[in-house]
Amino acid sequence: MSTSAFDWNYPSLIAHRGAGKHAPENTLSAVRLGHQHGFTMMEYDVKLSRDGVAILLHDDRIDRTSNGQGLASQYSLADLMQFDFGSWLHEKYSAEPILTLSTMAAYTIAHGIHSNIEIKPETGFEAETGARVARIAQQLWQKASVPPLLSSFSEVALEAAKLAAPELPRALLIEDHVPADYLARLQRLDCVALNLDTKLTTKELVAETLAAGYQLCIWTVNDPQRAKELLSWGCKGIVTDAIDTISPLTPF
Ligand code: G3P
Ligand code: CA
Repeated sequence: MSTSAFDWNYPSLIAHRGAGKHAPENTLSAVRLGHQHGFTMMEYDVKLSRDGVAILLHDDRIDRTSNGQGLASQYSLADLMQFDFGSWLHEKYSAEPILTLSTMAAYTIAHGIHSNIEIKPETGFEAETGARVARIAQQLWQKASVPPLLSSFSEVALEAAKLAAPELPRALLIEDHVPADYLARLQRLDCVALNLDTKLTTKELVAETLAAGYQLCIWTVNDPQRAKELLSWGCKGIVTDAIDTISPLTPF
């Protein structure tokens, strides 16, 4: 993919993990709530179950966001379906199942919602997860007018995604510090964007990245003034937990 040829066609406001902390992260309830708040793009985390199904889950383990324990890769999808992925946040979500990428694709495409799929491999499964998630996404979104944006902190996963589904746009996630060679990394992975921690985002860095031909999505931005500032610098995407105060439905 040529970065300059890529037609960036995503909304500027992106709901983090579906609805931030307002619903159980990475679940269909979260996506529904984010959509009710006017969001037409969602960021969510994807990894693989033991039987290779792409599932939405942030952590390596299921302990924090379900009533189960252990690594996601210990469990088949059928096993994971036995757990409750909602009541950790509130008992009203006690029937919330694990969400598959397949169900997510069907729901979001049907409702005109765009996707930023963060490939979040369990340690040791980077290449396998990058390749498999990209292939599954390619198939699920083949008839959609706008492809999902694939992103990852793992350059190994992004490289594998690039080989598996080169036509799907990619973004490199960066936290902690911006390496001096970050533009070379974006180029090597043939990315269309840099998805950067707001703490690392300066006006100069935004200008340098834009001048090199890459878009920027900034996370996790929960202050409306900061969101405004980042957009005024030319950042294209704002990933937020604050779906009530930074919303497409309300001016901020
Ligand atoms: O994709 C941006 C952001 O979600 C990365 O951090 O830990 O929330 O997945 P995390
Ligand atoms: Ca994420």
